[in-house]
Formats: sequence, C-alpha cells, structure tokens
Amino acid sequence: MSNLLVVIGITGQQGGSVASLFSQEPGWKVRGITRNQSSHSALAWTSKGVEMVQADLNDPSALPAAFAGAAALFVTTDFWGPFYNPQTLSLLKEHQTLGEYCSDIELQQGKNVFDAASQIPTLERIVVSSLVDAETLSGGRFKGVYHWGGKAMALKYLRESHPELAGKLSTVVMGNYMGNWLRDLKLRKTDAGYRLALVGSGTTPLPHIDVERDTGYLVRALLECSPGKTVLGAGEMISWCEMLRVWCECNEVPLAGFDQLSIDQFERFVPVPGLGRELGEMFAFMDEFEYAGGDANVVLPSEVGYLLVCSEYTN
Ligand SMILES: NC(=O)c1ccc[n+]([C@@H]2O[C@H](COP(=O)([O-])OP(=O)(O)OC[C@H]3O[C@@H](n4cnc5c(N)ncnc54)[C@H](OP(=O)(O)O)[C@@H]3O)[C@@H](O)[C@H]2O)c1
Repeated sequence: MSNLLVVIGITGQQGGSVASLFSQEPGWKVRGITRNQSSHSALAWTSKGVEMVQADLNDPSALPAAFAGAAALFVTTDFWGPFYNPQTLSLLKEHQTLGEYCSDIELQQGKNVFDAASQIPTLERIVVSSLVDAETLSGGRFKGVYHWGGKAMALKYLRESHPELAGKLSTVVMGNYMGNWLRDLKLRKTDAGYRLALVGSGTTPLPHIDVERDTGYLVRALLECSPGKTVLGAGEMISWCEMLRVWCECNEVPLAGFDQLSIDQFERFVPVPGLGRELGEMFAFMDEFEYAGGDANVVLPSEVGYLLVCSEYTN
C-alpha cells in the first residue's frame, strides 16, 4: 500500500512542487489541502487524479479529517494573504501593525496544524517550510521581519508543546525565490548599464531557489534521511552583486553597479504600506546574519544528499 503524503499549499509554488514530484513517486500517494476545491488550480490537481480536500488552516476543526491516514505531512503557512487583503486593516487592534497581525495569524495557523498533526497516529514524518527568528538572532535589532517571525514561533511552539511530533520533524529554511529578484527588486536600466539597489552590502552569499522545481526534491531528500535535519532551501548560494553580474553577462548588457540603501531609503521606494520596512529589515538581516543567523544546524542541501543546480536567474 502507498504511503499518504498530505500537502498543505498544493495550489501554491512550494506545495505544488512537492505534489508534482510525489504524485509520480513510486510508493507515494498525495492528498492536497485547499480552501477552495473549485478553484482553477485545485481542479487541475483533481484532473490529475490527486485527492483534494477542503480545509482552512485558520479553522482547526477541519484539520484532523484532512490529515487522517497521513504517513507524512508537508506544511506551509500563509502570511501574505491577509497582508495584501485590504479588509485586514479593519481587524487590527489598537497600536497593532499589519505585520504583527499577520504574524499572529501565521503563528496560529502553525499551532492549528501541529495540534492536529500530533493527533494523527499514522504520521511518521512532518516537513515544515519555515524561516528563522530574525529578532532573536539579531539580539532584538530586527524586530519587524514578521513574515519570518510567525513561522519561527510556530516551530518553537511545536518543539515545546508536541515533543513527540517534534521527533518526526524536518525543516526547510526556504531561500529567496529566484523569480523574485527581477520582478520585485530595484533593478534599473541607466545610461551606463544596469544597477541594483538594495539594503545591505550585496556581497553576502545567500540561498536562492527555483522554488517550483526544487522544493519537491528537497522534501524527498529530507524524507530519505532520518528526521531532525534543517536544510537551507537553496539551489545556489549567491550574492546580489554576483547575481547582477551573471545576469548582465548572460543577457549581454552592461553592468553599472550595486547601490547600498538604508532601510529608510528602501522603505521610501516601496509604495505598499508596511512592506518596505518588513522587506528592508529582512534584507538587512540576511546580509548581516547570512540568512539563517549563523546557525550551524542549518545545512546545505548537499549535506542531506541532494545537489541542486541553479537555473532561472539568468532568464
Ligand atoms: N517569496 C519568497 O522568496 C519566499 C522565500 C521564503 C519563504 N517564503 C514563504 O513561502 C510561503 C508561501 O509559499 P508559496 O510561495 O508556496 O505560496 P503561494 O504560491 O503564495 O500559495 C499559497 C498557498 O497557501 C494556501 N493557503 C493560503 N492560505 C491558506 C489557508 N488559510 N488555509 C489553507 N491553505 C492556505 C493556498 O491554497 P488555496 O488558495 O488553494 O487555499 C496556496 O496553495 C509564505 O509563507 C512565504 O513567506 C517565500
């Protein structure tokens, strides 16, 4: 009989990658979780023969049935959905920022998932896509990286509240998506060539991942090892300056240089309220603290037996 892998976020980039690989993997069967079984992306999975189950991570009552029978569970949680929903602003408490609110929501989602998963007797493994606690690792200097903090606090809750489940845990500290940098970052064409403006030195090697291609392979590598490993979600460790150099070389365009911005300057570039500070502090933290805060327990993919190859950033 096949092992059942339950994939949270199957209609998204990470979960979709995991489901694509495991739905073709001998010995595995995939069940996907979605809030809307009628969405275009959910129906696409149904048409491929994948079982799709309706559940919302904000509603703990539906999760035990959604996870029933699972041998393994892949977990992502959501910060950006409520962050970009204009209605969220009306839900903030007095003095609460949007980032704080969304971090609380994400933490609660993690708690809901881990509480339910701890009650599944068949569950042997849980792989969580997470990020590190920038506030604690920076000694309180970067308090505003909320989309990392909620994930890190959820894992802390798992370890403290469900030690048996924590014994089945493997973690991916997900790197920067390679597709982001051309879409979202401040790449500018000037008369002298291309310039990239970002917080930090731009010279720290950082994890970048082709998320839709590689997340599934990373999860498979983790499931083939004993639990307890924390791996960087990385296809390649590369600095922003090097990324810019390679991109200019591949596209045969002149390279003008890298501009180091302060967090305040970066914030002024980003029109979405709260986003500039959130991302500015994140870029500052990753530049200074090498993404995972220097935690020696966070290993490269090659150390769990999988060698990834960078592909997309030259496109
Ligand atoms: N962008 C980056 O560089 C980067 C780097 C590291 C980590 N991350 C993290 O990656 C995560 C996003 O992963 P992704 O890119 O795979 O997501 P995505 O492509 O944006 O898709 C989001 C997925 O989450 C599901 N989802 C959202 N809210 C849900 C809820 N309340 N209940 C159940 N399912 C819910 C959605 O399912 P339905 O809509 O079908 O319900 C969808 O499958 C974020 O937490 C982000 O912070 C991003």
